[in-house]
Amino acid sequence: MDTDNRAEFRRFKKVEHEIRILQTAMENIRNNIDLDENNGELAKLQIENVKLKHRLDILKSAIEAERKQTSKGSSNYTGTISILDHLNELFTHAIATAFPQVSKDVPTVITVSSSAKFGDYQCNNAMQIVQKLKMLDVKLNPREVATKIMEALPKSHIISKSEVAGAGFVNVFLDKSFGASAIMAILKNGVQPPTCEKKRVIVDFSSPNIAKEMHVGHLRSTIIGDSISRFLEYLGHDVLRLNHVGDWGTQFGMLIAHLQERFPDYQNVSPPIGDLQAFYKESKARFDSDEPFKKRAYACVVKLQSGDNESLKAWKLICDVSRKEFQKVYDRLDVKLIERGESFYQEGMEEIVKELADSGFLEEDDGRKIMWGENKEGIPLTVIKSDGGFTYDTSDMAAIKQRLHEEKADWVIYVTDAGQATHFQTIFSCARRAKILNPSLHRVDHVGFGVVLGEDGKKFKTRSGDTVKLTELLDEGLKRSLDKLVEKERDKVLSQEEMKLAQESVANGCIKYADLSHNRNNEYIFSFDKMLEDKGNTAVYLLYAYTRIRSIARNCGGDFANNIEKVINSTELTLEHEKEWKLCKVLLRFTDVMKLITKNLCLHHLCEFVYEVSTTFTEFYDSCYCLEKNKQGEIVKINAGRVLLCEATSRILGKCFDILGLKPLQKI
Ligand code: ARG
Repeated sequence: MDTDNRAEFRRFKKVEHEIRILQTAMENIRNNIDLDENNGELAKLQIENVKLKHRLDILKSAIEAERKQTSKGSSNYTGTISILDHLNELFTHAIATAFPQVSKDVPTVITVSSSAKFGDYQCNNAMQIVQKLKMLDVKLNPREVATKIMEALPKSHIISKSEVAGAGFVNVFLDKSFGASAIMAILKNGVQPPTCEKKRVIVDFSSPNIAKEMHVGHLRSTIIGDSISRFLEYLGHDVLRLNHVGDWGTQFGMLIAHLQERFPDYQNVSPPIGDLQAFYKESKARFDSDEPFKKRAYACVVKLQSGDNESLKAWKLICDVSRKEFQKVYDRLDVKLIERGESFYQEGMEEIVKELADSGFLEEDDGRKIMWGENKEGIPLTVIKSDGGFTYDTSDMAAIKQRLHEEKADWVIYVTDAGQATHFQTIFSCARRAKILNPSLHRVDHVGFGVVLGEDGKKFKTRSGDTVKLTELLDEGLKRSLDKLVEKERDKVLSQEEMKLAQESVANGCIKYADLSHNRNNEYIFSFDKMLEDKGNTAVYLLYAYTRIRSIARNCGGDFANNIEKVINSTELTLEHEKEWKLCKVLLRFTDVMKLITKNLCLHHLCEFVYEVSTTFTEFYDSCYCLEKNKQGEIVKINAGRVLLCEATSRILGKCFDILGLKPLQKI
C-alpha cells in the first residue's frame, strides 16, 4: 500500500504540475492576443487556447479522481490523513485556478486556527496575493481575493464549510462525519504512522568519552537520540542506533602508560579501577608534570595505533571499565544502542586521509594538513595534526564515508550539544566537496541542543562544585519520585511491586520528559521540583491522566473490558457534544505532528500535542458522561461512542508515550 500511495501521490503532483504549465501557457496566449491584436497568428492561438482549455478540464477531473481515491470511501483510507497536506493541495489548486498569473510565486499557507471562532484551519494567502496583483496593475482587496479563492476551492469530504473572515482569511471547518470515520479507522487499524519513503537511518547519539565522565550533556544526547530513534522506528525506517564513543586518541597513551606502572600485573589480575575518572585525573597530572612519563605516553600511542597486542589489551581493559559504567545508565533509562566508537574507523581514517590527499583537498597549514569546506568559509578541518596524528575531524570524515557508502545510510543524524554545530556543518560541507555526500541522495542532520543549567541558572554542578555523576542523578530521581508518591499516599493503595514500577516510571519519565518537552535548541534548567510537579506539562501529570483514561473502558466492564473490538465493530461515533468534537479534532492532528517532527526533529512538538490531548480530554470528560451510575454505584447507562473516544485517545497517547520513552502504568 505504501508504494501505491507514493505512486498515487507522484501522479497527483505531476498532474498538478502540468496544470500549472498549461495555465501559464494559456496566460501567455492571452497576453499575446492582447499585444498582437491584428496579427495573423491570432486565429491559430485561439484554436490552441481552446485545445489547452480542454486539456485543462481533463486534468482537473483527473485530479478530482485522485482526491476521491484518498477519501474515506476508498479502501486505502487508514485514518492517517494529513489534514494540513490535504488542505494545502486544495488551496494550492484554488489559488492556481483563481489567480494563475501569480500562483507560482505564492506558497500556500495553511495554519491551525488559534481559536474556534476562526474555524478549524485557515488559509492566510490573500494579503500576499493582493500585493502581487498590484504589481500587475490588478486592484483587488484582500476580502475579494479571499472570496475568489474560496469560490475556487474544490469540494472535499474533509470540509463541511468555509467562509471568508476578518482581513481576508479563508476559514475552514472540518466535517464531522470525516472526523468520526478517521477515529473509527484508528480504532480498527491501530494508530498508523503517516506513509513515507522508508529510509536507512543512522542515529549517532549519547557518545560519551572513555575514561572521562558521562555528563549531563551526554544524558541529553541519550534522551533526545533515543526518542528520535523511537520516532523513526515508528515511521517504519530501518534505524541503526550508534554510540560513537570517544575511545581512541592520544589520551589513551597516558592512560596505558599509567596503567602499566600502577598495575604491572594487569594482564593477569584485573586491576581494581573503580573510579576511572580519578584514574584519568592521576594520569593527566603525571602527564603534565613528568617529562619521561610524557615520552612513555607518546610511545604508547604509537604502539597502540600500530596494533601492538599488549597495548591493545590495556586499551580494551580501560574501555571495559568505562563501558560497564555507561551501560548502567542505558539500562536504567531503557535505552538500546550499539557501541561503535572512534577506534572502529582507524583503518578508514588512513584511507580517507590518502583519498583526500590524492584528490588535492588537503592544504599545508603550519605543519598541519587542513581541508576547507565548499566555500572556504568558516573554519577548516584539521585532518592531520602537526605530529602526524589524526583528530576528531579525521574520524568523523572516515565515519561519514563508512556510513553513507558501506552502511548505505540514506540519512545520518548526529545528536550532540549545539557547541558542535560548526564542526558538523564543516564535516558535511567537506563531505559534499569530496563527493562523499550527495545532497540529492542523502540527508544529514546535526541535532543540536542547549546546555543544561542548574536551578541557579549556572552550569549544572553538584553543591560542592563537581560535575554531577549520572548514576547519582538517576538515584536522586528515584528517591524524589518515591517521596512524591508517598506524599500523595499512593503507598496506601498500591502493592509494593506496583509502587516500585510507579517509582521508576515517574523518576525516569520525568527526567526524559522535562528534557524533551523543551525546545532542544534552548538551554534547559534541570529542576527535580519542577519536573515532579503533578500539574502542567509534566510526565507526572501525563502518567496520571493516561492511567485514568485507560481505566475508563475497563470500568465499564462487559465487552468494553474484554472485547473492545466487538464494541468498535458495532458502534457508530456521532460526536454530538461540542467537547467530543473538539477532542476528535485535536486527535486528528497526530499525523501532522509526526510530519512536522520528520522535518525538524524537535520532539517538543510531540510533548505539546500530548499535553493538549490530555487537557482537551479533561474538558471532554468533565462535560460528557461516558457512563452513568445510580445511587448504589451500579452502572445504568454507557455511552459507547464516548467510551470509544476515550479508547482512541488512550491509544494515541500510548503511541506518543512510546516515542517519548515514557512507561505508562496500569495503576498509579
Ligand atoms: N564524544 C563526543 C563528545 O563527547 C560526541 C561524539 C558525537 N558523534 C560524532 N560522530 N562526532 O562530545
